[in-house]
Amino acid sequence: MADGTADPRTIHLKDYTPFPWTIDGVDLTFALAPRGTRVTSRLRFRPNPEARPGPFFLHGEDLRLIEARIDGQPVSPRIALEGLTCDVPDGPFTWESVVEIDPEANTRLEGLYLSNGMYCTQCEAEGFRRITFYPDRPDVMAVFTTRIESDLPVLLSNGNPGERSEGVAIWHDPWPKPAYLFALVAGDLLAHRDRFTTMTGREVDLAVWVRPGDEGKCAWAMESLKASMRWDEETYGREYDLDVFNIVAVDDFNMGAMENKGLNIFNSSAVLASPETATDANYERIEAIVAHEYFHNWTGNRITCRDWFQLSLKEGLTVFRDAQFTGDLRGRGVKRIHDAAALRAGQFREDGGPLAHPVRPESFVEINNFYTMTVYEKGAEVIGMLKRLVGDEGYRRALDLYFARHDGQAATVEDWLQVFEDATGRDLSQFKLWYSQAGTPRLRVEERWEEGRYTLDLSQTVPPTPGQPTKAPMVIPVAVGLLNPNGDEVVPTTVLELTGERQSFAFDLPTRPIPSILRDFSAPVLLDRDAPEEEAAFLLAHDTDEFNRWEAAQTLARRAIRARLDGRNIDPAWAPALRAVLRDDTLSPAYRATILARPSQEETAQALHGAGLTPDPLAIFRAHEEVAEHLAHALADLLPGLHDQGQVPGPYSPDPDSVGRRSLGNAALMLLSRTDVGARARAQFAGAADMTQSVAALSALLLVDAGEAELQAFHDRWSGDRLVMDKWFALQASLARPEEAVATAERLTRHPAFVWTNPNRFRSVLGAFAGNLAGFHDPSGAGYRLLADWLLRLDGANPQFAARMSGAFSTWRRYDADRQALAEAELRRIQSAPGLSRDLSEMVARMLG
Ligand code: ARG
Ligand code: ZN
Repeated sequence: MADGTADPRTIHLKDYTPFPWTIDGVDLTFALAPRGTRVTSRLRFRPNPEARPGPFFLHGEDLRLIEARIDGQPVSPRIALEGLTCDVPDGPFTWESVVEIDPEANTRLEGLYLSNGMYCTQCEAEGFRRITFYPDRPDVMAVFTTRIESDLPVLLSNGNPGERSEGVAIWHDPWPKPAYLFALVAGDLLAHRDRFTTMTGREVDLAVWVRPGDEGKCAWAMESLKASMRWDEETYGREYDLDVFNIVAVDDFNMGAMENKGLNIFNSSAVLASPETATDANYERIEAIVAHEYFHNWTGNRITCRDWFQLSLKEGLTVFRDAQFTGDLRGRGVKRIHDAAALRAGQFREDGGPLAHPVRPESFVEINNFYTMTVYEKGAEVIGMLKRLVGDEGYRRALDLYFARHDGQAATVEDWLQVFEDATGRDLSQFKLWYSQAGTPRLRVEERWEEGRYTLDLSQTVPPTPGQPTKAPMVIPVAVGLLNPNGDEVVPTTVLELTGERQSFAFDLPTRPIPSILRDFSAPVLLDRDAPEEEAAFLLAHDTDEFNRWEAAQTLARRAIRARLDGRNIDPAWAPALRAVLRDDTLSPAYRATILARPSQEETAQALHGAGLTPDPLAIFRAHEEVAEHLAHALADLLPGLHDQGQVPGPYSPDPDSVGRRSLGNAALMLLSRTDVGARARAQFAGAADMTQSVAALSALLLVDAGEAELQAFHDRWSGDRLVMDKWFALQASLARPEEAVATAERLTRHPAFVWTNPNRFRSVLGAFAGNLAGFHDPSGAGYRLLADWLLRLDGANPQFAARMSGAFSTWRRYDADRQALAEAELRRIQSAPGLSRDLSEMVARMLG
């Protein structure tokens, strides 16, 4: 089953049919108790005039049905594995049921569960069916009223607060929503409060809820929330629509956060921050995730998805919006560079392996397996291309039309593209292939120069992917600029639209130009071009496009890595070329830090594989080390000055400028520790006043195998702080040297603080280890075995998360025959384990397929 489609449980996009009823109102009552919570639901159904009649089926899993009534009369529904069916009247009727659930036994972190004594929910994608019997599909939208009975002090749900009395709270959400946006929280929590006045002058009460002890770590999330609310008004004209907006931080959470209407629930790692405990990267991540979830209020909640195949309709668009937000706040060029680098490392890897799937998949067994970089990040890239093709004005008109036309609806990718066609008159039928064809297109560029005429010959190929052996040509916007040999831009950025398999674009110019191609990373493609050797150095010195200037630095770094892999010397001109840019004070420190960054080992492995070679993880590790050593020596005089600039005086602030300075300083420190045996890093660690400086120093020491004492000191100081301890685990697992990595990871799993049922902690050891290329791919196979053992254990408790973590195996076919045999044996061992979850078995089948 190459793409999992042979599995009898496969769901297909083409089989969509609307639900035969609509719901006029939902009343829920929760009598909370750890081992036996009673959920009473009252649903007012009416036949759906737009659907064909069909059987009455309500989803439900792991529910104990206590009683059911229709119009007040007891009924005996037929319970099936994934729900129930029942005979129902022809017209409208009221369904009532009482079920009992066990939040304490819920280790899946889906549905209603307990985390450190706090009740919380996660319903996307299909978790509501673990709370009560319901048509748990996103196209069934209803108005919910929720009554919570509990002695706990804080009782929250969606919408606006209603009556509150001793042991009872009532919430009413006036906006119709699908069940996946339902949320409930109850616990002993404290609020960090603020207010927001909307563009029309309405007052909104904001709160960030946390466990006692964490109340001092909420200010940044709150600032980020207010900035997001303002930005969405100014940029998209979107106003908030309830009297309250609540954010809750939860320690046990499978992902980053969830956009439940009016009650966003977050992984505590995406909320809590203080200068002493959170790094700049943590601050930036919190800002981005708070924005992302807030933006979902319009792109996801007011307009939701008709079915889960349309997931990118909300996720791709919301990622695109949060990237715009971050770019506006922190600098567009650097944000684009970070996003493109992440896309290449993660999404290109997915798109080039057995897990490749279209932005809009056509089938799935378990939808949780499709919350992927393809749906999210490639989906956002597709929207970026659309915007580039129709222009900023056209984009804004299309979005206004989207909100006006589809508010309150469950929409599709077709609806989305239709508003662009209607608002701009552009035919998007070929563009739509970006939603249906998987695989990263390869863009080949050749140039010709004949007497005053410069021609770019562009051609494209889209590789075969599981279930899609042949592909049609896509619409690829290729942003191009042309420079003359003294560095002046003779043709400013122009978008060439490649729509055929090959096309030529000519420019009349007096002298032969140097091309800057795929500026701003204008399409998520692999650029294939035999550029003259000296072109990258020229662009590094002169390109006006921030992205392509960085790309030129990457090209030079890739060449250096490749030289070491082939046993050649590194081009002595490389470091001087970098030096000129690193010393250019007109460039922001944040930007200069990206110039100093090299491609990841994963990217090198990917590139070798793409070139038809067999990557050797150990050789890649060594080559990257040698390249770092080379730079450390060649830039030895410059690095101390750059590092000094990173010591930002005054109290900690995560503003873009301070973050940029620290990122440049710490990028320099990572190299410096290779020549000063950690002296500067040790001093920085000892004097660090904030977590950014502390973690950077510790990393710089671990990179040169010299941080034992600091590691212990860090442990002793922070053993009471979960999120900081996650860093302590992750640093060791990801930076352990190849020959020690498996033993290190194993040792960490035996540490008393390794609570494997907590997803953050599991990820901090096994996720970090799986990202340690040479460690995970240890030639003995011990890395594969370690991860497989833990996946099997995790699968019994939390299948969704086990499936997610299993993706580390997806590249196994890239490597040599011995490694392949070892990895395959582990995958087969997982596959044949009794009682394997649907989640993990789908992943393993696809990876073996
Ligand atoms: N909608 C959430 C977000 O992107 C993520 C939910 C993930 N759900 C899942 N089952 N993996 O903000
Ligand atoms: Zn999202």
